[in-house]
Amino acid sequence: MTIFPTVRSRRLRRSARLRRMVAETRLDPAAFVLPLFVVPGSDVLRPIGSMPGHHQLSVDRVVDVAREAQAAGVGGVILFGIPPSKDETGSGAWDPAGPVPTAIGAIKESAPDLVVWADVCLCEYTSHGHCGVVVGDTVDNDATLPLLADAAVVYADAGADVIAPSDMMDGRVAAIREALDGAGHHELPICSYSAKYASAYYGPFRDAAESAPAFGDRRTHQMDPPNAREALVEVRLDLAEGADMVMVKPAGPYQDVIASVRAAVDVPVAAYQVSGEFAMIEAAAANGWIDRERVIVESLLGIARAGADVILTYFAVDAARLLEES
Ligand code: PBG
Ligand code: ZN
Repeated sequence: MTIFPTVRSRRLRRSARLRRMVAETRLDPAAFVLPLFVVPGSDVLRPIGSMPGHHQLSVDRVVDVAREAQAAGVGGVILFGIPPSKDETGSGAWDPAGPVPTAIGAIKESAPDLVVWADVCLCEYTSHGHCGVVVGDTVDNDATLPLLADAAVVYADAGADVIAPSDMMDGRVAAIREALDGAGHHELPICSYSAKYASAYYGPFRDAAESAPAFGDRRTHQMDPPNAREALVEVRLDLAEGADMVMVKPAGPYQDVIASVRAAVDVPVAAYQVSGEFAMIEAAAANGWIDRERVIVESLLGIARAGADVILTYFAVDAARLLEES
């Protein structure tokens, strides 16, 4: 091996142009997906305290943000809905007149270049905040599947481009695939939240989506943080059931999982930089403790370098603009 002084690693770091030329990882806003929270009503722009810059939005306001995202070059949006009222089964999730189906139609019309993802879960819609039907004190896996499938078909009918189940019920990808095919949506892709961990990083999201469980937690169906190999079991099951893409979530603290999933499968891998990851960066930046813009880009680079092809991030619009400037 040739060594110093013949070799000097710094030679390829001498200028910004040169560094950029040899960069191993490039961030592309077309691979960013911006999460949006849709509420009933009109002219609603309700700030989410733990997520500075993000709001609960009525459909008319969602359209403004979607246009802005499209103009910045962001690839897509993922929609979460807060219904006018919640019940035991989360029936608002499959209401064709609900906030999400309405927003899908409005976004397709006003920002047609965006890929519109519909998150499929019941926790925003159930009175108890669980991701499925509760029997006794547990979430009934099998009873939940047809309800998730109904919701997926409603979003598909409304014009969603990607269906993304986040509930972590066993068998939901197969149930949703079958229902979509039965409704004529054979060509609509599913991105499964395959390796979704029972994470404390979801705190701010539960404020935003008003989806905190009223009792208990999600540890019986979401993955246990110590487990990495198990993520490959989940991923392979979802692919066998018909998933077209798989997701790892959260992203930053699970980069090892992103890398091992990337190495194990040939489909696109998405990673979700979740609300807590976002909030920590914003909070530190607000205190003047970190350089916000540099940390945003570096946090996304870490996720991309680990192997994520698609990144769901609350920084999508800001990051797209930063990348354009750089
Ligand atoms: C609900 C869902 C959650 C997130 C996306 N879908 C929260 C949860 O499982 O409690 C988290 C996203 C985030 O924190 O940004 N199925
Ligand atoms: Zn849920």
